[in-house]
Amino acid sequence: MLALLSFYLPATTLAQNNTVSPIAVRGAAHARTATKLYILGGKDKLSAYPQFFSLDLAVPWQGSQAAWGKLPDGIAQDIFPMAASMDEKELVVFHAGQGSSSLLTARLFNLVTQQWSTSQFSAQYAAFQGNGAVTDPSTGLVYIAGSYTDASRGSLNIYTFESDSMKTLTIPPDQLINRGYYTNAWSKRLSSALYFGGYNASLQPVLGPDANVVTRYSPSTGQWSRLVCLIQLSFAI
Ligand SMILES: *[C@@H]1O[C@H](CO)[C@@H](O)[C@H](O)[C@H]1NC(C)=O
Ligand SMILES: *[C@@H]1O[C@H](CO)[C@@H](O)[C@H](O)[C@H]1NC(C)=O
Repeated sequence: MLALLSFYLPATTLAQNNTVSPIAVRGAAHARTATKLYILGGKDKLSAYPQFFSLDLAVPWQGSQAAWGKLPDGIAQDIFPMAASMDEKELVVFHAGQGSSSLLTARLFNLVTQQWSTSQFSAQYAAFQGNGAVTDPSTGLVYIAGSYTDASRGSLNIYTFESDSMKTLTIPPDQLINRGYYTNAWSKRLSSALYFGGYNASLQPVLGPDANVVTRYSPSTGQWSRLVCLIQLSFAI
């Protein structure tokens, strides 16, 4: 159900350094459209790579010949979020600065013209690592929990493709304890963003009853809640 954070693909596919498949990395940014998976950047033991690929999910492939398509290089970064616009014509990539002092927060990739451009806005904590981004497919708004605008990671940033701007809402202190390095996904059925795992605002492990929960944010109601997960147990007497 939840999006994968990193990609460990078969070594046979990835050992080759050619133009048709990505180098095996951890922490690549990724985004899904109806028929494609996009991955950008990521790091291995040596360095971070600006590699950018699409994987066509609509065509079958044989063995290790996955339907990769190479796109123009983006940024050499790892553990950073990417999201698609509602019309699936654009991708936005956050944490796109070139260093911790840079304010440059986002870059855009136009899937029609296949060109990168720089976002207009900047945020104070642009270099934060470990945020995630999900698009609400009914409004096109992109939700980034943990935020780039608040030192304590206590906000929810909402990015709008049309105006290329960001607004900020406060996350109630007792909600979404995991403020970084979480994984997130959009649930169509619940019309909500779902969050799982990660670390708290001081980037320490989350302990006790707050650990191991799925947190839900519903943009239409503005409510944060926790999913109640039913566990079915059967006992032999
Ligand atoms: C892959 O090959 C290209 C062209 O030979 C080279 O410029 C690049 O540095 C190589 N990348 C890696 C990660 O080995
Ligand atoms: C984060 O969790 C640690 C325990 O792992 C705790 O000591 C610390 O106070 C927490 N910080 C915040 C900001 O919740």
